[in-house]
Amino acid sequence: MSYQALAQEAEQILRLNWRDGFTVPTNKLYPFQWNWDSGFTCLGHAYFEPKWAIRELNSLLSGQWENGMIPHIIFHSETETSYFPNHDFWNTTVNAGAPQKPKTSGITQPPVHGFILENLLSKFPDDAALLAFVKAIFPKVVHSHRFFYTYRDPEREGLAFLYHPWETGRDNSPLWDESNARIQIDKSTLPAYTRQDTKLADKKERPTSDQYDRFVYMLELGKKHQYDGEGIFEESPVLLQDTLTNAILIQSNQSLIRIGERLGLDTGELKEWQAQSVKSFREKLWNEKLATFTCYDLRKEAQIEYKEIGGLTALSAEIATKDQANKLNDYLNDLHNRGYYLCPSFDVDDPLFDSKRYWRGPIWPQMNWLIYGGLKAYGFMDTAKIVRGDFLELVDKLGFYEYFEAQKSVAVQLDKGYGGGQFSWTSACVLDLLHEDG
Ligand code: SER
Repeated sequence: MSYQALAQEAEQILRLNWRDGFTVPTNKLYPFQWNWDSGFTCLGHAYFEPKWAIRELNSLLSGQWENGMIPHIIFHSETETSYFPNHDFWNTTVNAGAPQKPKTSGITQPPVHGFILENLLSKFPDDAALLAFVKAIFPKVVHSHRFFYTYRDPEREGLAFLYHPWETGRDNSPLWDESNARIQIDKSTLPAYTRQDTKLADKKERPTSDQYDRFVYMLELGKKHQYDGEGIFEESPVLLQDTLTNAILIQSNQSLIRIGERLGLDTGELKEWQAQSVKSFREKLWNEKLATFTCYDLRKEAQIEYKEIGGLTALSAEIATKDQANKLNDYLNDLHNRGYYLCPSFDVDDPLFDSKRYWRGPIWPQMNWLIYGGLKAYGFMDTAKIVRGDFLELVDKLGFYEYFEAQKSVAVQLDKGYGGGQFSWTSACVLDLLHEDG
């Protein structure tokens, strides 16, 4: 398909998924507004309906909690039944600061909106409506960062913890297997539930039922503590300082600092958070033996020693030193030379690698977008070119799916990608990367 045809299809999908004010990630599998999806989706709106980006982010922020949290799902429809868990199951009325309307989930997701705003401003530097919008929502986005530093960082390390795998964006990554194994499931106390996802996507490409029991258990634990209580830190068997979320927080802090300086807004608090976060990320999460940044398990008080996609986001957030960045770049080139598409979401040499099951191996569009930007920032233009080219090749060959096969030898036998089809962030990343130099 020509680049022009790819761009046309991307735009058509984003128009199809638009719901008069926000975008669903894909029609049935994810029928509401998702937090980090909506951020990436704005990258696509910018090319054909830039005003939609403003509406998209306003819709998302209509679900922000008093404590600053931007929930991971905003249930703009209360009657849609094709998704589990729905708003009733979350029952966020347990927290007095959760909005009555729109209904939301009770957990958050990686805070991409700071750097998405900066990206939009770089595309439309003098647009008065955009500038006014950015000024108006700046305090709300800063408040969403304050949530992480207030409720998710009790030791004041500058590294936020997450307790629900859905918050990390990488739901079923092998990273969380050991923490998940600490959860003892008692079916007689776990609320009854029916999954909808496996009716809409191939079971083999989705998390297992065992993992879903644990997702539900953790949801109930959050609810028990009103979703922001100190009890979560005391009781949760899963307590993770995630590379990806903290790198994205750092990247967005930096964007907000630059935006604030340009627009004359207060950046004092952001700068304090940023100094502490960058220092802790570098000192606590780097693993010399693996030559990557690793997540940290606060329950075990140890790094989670796997090579995976989260470590690479230290490039996009420009946290890595030049030497560390060289090692991450070598790692990607090695994978490329061994016949993998870039960038697999998990260590291809680990027995837990599964090239088709959600976050246990496949290629994810928004991750390639992030890592492409990071490689460019460090001057690794050749690798950046591969990351961009692999993603566009996968979409061209296999369609606008949610995620993709990582092994070239397997992908060649397939006629489609994995998970949901006609996917919003895939389309948005295609549009944005098509405008970059090949
Ligand atoms: N990614 C999750 C799902 O699969 C929730 O955010 O539903």
